[in-house]
Formats: sequence, structure tokens, C-alpha cells
Amino acid sequence: MPDILPVHLAIIMDGNGRWAKQRKMPRIMGHKKGVDVVNKVVRHASKLGIKYLSLFAFSMENWQRPGDEVSFLMRLLDEYIEKELNTILRENIRFTVTGNMEMIPEGTRNKLMNASDRSADNTGMTLNLALSYGGRAEIADAARQIARLAASGKLRPDDINEDNFLQFMYHPEIPDVDLLIRTSGELRISNFMLWRIAYSELYFTGKLWPDITEEDIDEAIEDFAGRTRRFGKTDDQVDI
Ligand code: IPE
Ligand code: IPE
Ligand code: MG
Repeated sequence: MPDILPVHLAIIMDGNGRWAKQRKMPRIMGHKKGVDVVNKVVRHASKLGIKYLSLFAFSMENWQRPGDEVSFLMRLLDEYIEKELNTILRENIRFTVTGNMEMIPEGTRNKLMNASDRSADNTGMTLNLALSYGGRAEIADAARQIARLAASGKLRPDDINEDNFLQFMYHPEIPDVDLLIRTSGELRISNFMLWRIAYSELYFTGKLWPDITEEDIDEAIEDFAGRTRRFGKTDDQVDI
């Protein structure tokens, strides 16, 4: 494994439906298989020493899917927490969720909150699950909070800048994304982590999420390690 690891690895886990369709199975079977891959990838990333792993599991826009698919996904999420919490705790993983939790069914939401609370002091990898998440909603929520503070006189508008804006986002302690992987061949962002991906390296693979293996993650990280991140500067300035 290369010695340059992304500090924050984010993944848009896409292609579960197509994976099932290829096998003439209902879409939900793809989601089920997708959870097994989540477990594999979480374990692998934690072993590699990734500090933050963000997984896009359910978008704000995904609420528009057929009701039975949405409820299946919520049940799957519920089951995931139930089954995996012990492993998360044992592996010293800190579990966080990012997104609009008010829209998540209460029972599942409570389990998610319990998992975050119980793992809050863990010092290993942060597993950040993006659920009911929208990148624009996150920015708009931050702007609303800033506007409220400014209106009440607690914050001076001139004090807001790019560096402290993050403090108003969900989980401000989670840094910018270094490497963003999207599976299934789609070449788009789908409203994921807009603020934090401003300077991310992007990696697209045609493989569907349920087919992803540890080796695919290694390949993406190796590709990342070979990139020159200039952040607007010249090669000479970034001393490669
Ligand atoms: C990703 O797989 C999982 C979720 C968005 C919940 P999809 O369900 O989007 O699978 P495709 O894109 O239809 O194949
Ligand atoms: C993005 O996948 C959201 C998740 C992976 C959870 P979608 O399948 O919903 O994205 P679009 O709609 O094809 O852009
Ligand atoms: Mg999709």
C-alpha cells in the first residue's frame, strides 16, 4: 500500500439496483448485497489507517423512490446498526451520521443516535454515514444558522470566511474530502458533500457497488497516491 493515504475517503456507493437487475432479481437484493460490501470496505479502510470514511448511503433525493424501496432501505439500515454496533465498538471506530435525521423513522434514528453516542470517544477511524443527506441542504442549513446568529447580534457578518464557514456545517471536525470514489460508471456528484469536495481527487469506476472488493479500494488509493495535488499552485511550488 502506498504511504500516501487520503485522510478523508468518501464513497458514493452506486449501482445496487443495476447489480440486481443483471441477475433478474428485485432491486432490494442489490441493496442487501451492498451492505455486505459496506462491512468489507469499512473493515478494510480501518485496517489501512484511513482516518475518516464517509459513505453515501441515502440521499435527500432518494426519498422520492417508491415507498417500498425506501422502507426496505430504512429496515436495512436498522438491521445494519443492530448487527454491526458491536463490531464498530470493538474496532475502536467512531460512528457518525450526517444528514437530515428528522426524516429518518424514529426507531431507526434512536439506534443511530445510540451508536454515535456509544462510539463518540473511540479514537480509530470515523465512519461517517451520509443518510437523508443533501450537499445543498447542508450549506443552506449552515447559512440559516449564520443568519440567525448575525440577526441576534452574536456574530459579525464580516467575520465569516471560508475557513470558519465549516464550523457551521454538519460535523465540522470532519475535514475536506481527499479522495472521492464513485462506483457504477456514473460521472456525477449527485449533491454529495459539495463544500468538502472543492479540491478532492475524483475516482470513477464502472464496477457496481455490490461487486466492489478490497482490491478496488486499494487501486483507487494507489491512483490517488500518484496524483499531484497543486491546489492552484505550480509543480515547483508543491515540490513533487
Ligand atoms: C445505490 O444504488 C444505493 C442507493 C442510492 C440507496 P442504486 O439503488 O442507486 O442503484 P442503481 O443506480 O439504481 O443501479
Ligand atoms: C447517489 O446515488 C446517492 C447514493 C449513492 C446514496 P443515486 O443513484 O441516487 O444518484 P443519481 O440519482 O443516479 O444521480
Ligand atoms: Mg443509483
